[in-house]
Amino acid sequence: MTKSIKTIGVLTSGGDAPGMNAAIRAVVRAATFYERRVFGIYEGYEGLIADNIKELNARSVKNILNRGGTVLKSSRSEAFKTKEGRKSAYENLKKHGIDALVLIGGNGTFTGGHIFSEEYDIPVIGVPGTIDNDLFGTDYTIGFDSATNTVINCVDKLRDTAESHNRLFFIEVMGRDSGFIALRAALASGALDVILPEESSPMQDLLNELAKGVENKKTNKLVVVAEGNKLGDTFAIAEEIRKKFPDMESKVTILGHLQRGGSPTCHDRVLASQLGVAAVEGLLNGKSDVMVGLENNEITYTFLQKAINNKAVLNTELLRISKILSI
Ligand code: F6P
Repeated sequence: MTKSIKTIGVLTSGGDAPGMNAAIRAVVRAATFYERRVFGIYEGYEGLIADNIKELNARSVKNILNRGGTVLKSSRSEAFKTKEGRKSAYENLKKHGIDALVLIGGNGTFTGGHIFSEEYDIPVIGVPGTIDNDLFGTDYTIGFDSATNTVINCVDKLRDTAESHNRLFFIEVMGRDSGFIALRAALASGALDVILPEESSPMQDLLNELAKGVENKKTNKLVVVAEGNKLGDTFAIAEEIRKKFPDMESKVTILGHLQRGGSPTCHDRVLASQLGVAAVEGLLNGKSDVMVGLENNEITYTFLQKAINNKAVLNTELLRISKILSI
């Protein structure tokens, strides 16, 4: 293990995700275990620029494994996109003697980290933390499992009303421009249909599924809609369907930021712990400009540029299964 890294900085950036705290804890404790100093950088890249940085120890991260959000807070920094912003960030790192960075976040976080590591001689390693699961180089991102569990709990509740009133429900879920949350949640909640950004003609598909639902006398009709889909706004989709099926009473529910909150699932806590330790060990073994991931149960390191430029591929087999089971 390299002796040159003596002090590690850790930050969370972009949208918060359940399990980020578990990852922070893992980074802080692994660094301490390997007798390195560790600093928490607050409010992501904004805090790096503003020198909102404090030393942490193993006890600083007690009682956070089970908590949602991020104790380090987060931001989406515009200033870090500028050369001046990154210069101030570097000067603050030097001031605290921070030799290396662990960046917990998603695509935007890694884009900033990659540019920074090219400009300055600071090893950086990314830990995938986003509910969207849209990162290449890991089977799952931290937060995805918790978010999908939140979604299915909500859909289960909506099913009660849908069934009691014979209603059609459109349930909009997050995911930015990918349908991982929508697809998995649709399958796990027995939805009649799912509208995904990855689909080319989702309207025709939806019309077919609804017609089939009527024919098969389905009393509740739950349709999961991914934000970023090609049909657009969920209210507009519902309006379009009202014109085609005027006798079908329909409602729209937008789950929104509910999906980002709450205690992380066991899966996310374990994943965050594995990736946090692997991030520190990766840095100490000389890795830089990479994202740590878990693929087929193995820790892997993917170059940040590759993780950013490639798209995580949706398992369309789940869509096929979902259609078989929603008859
Ligand atoms: O990337 C996580 C995410 O929750 C996306 O699913 C969503 O599109 C976006 O962030 C919302 O961002 P904000 O919280 O800044 O509105």
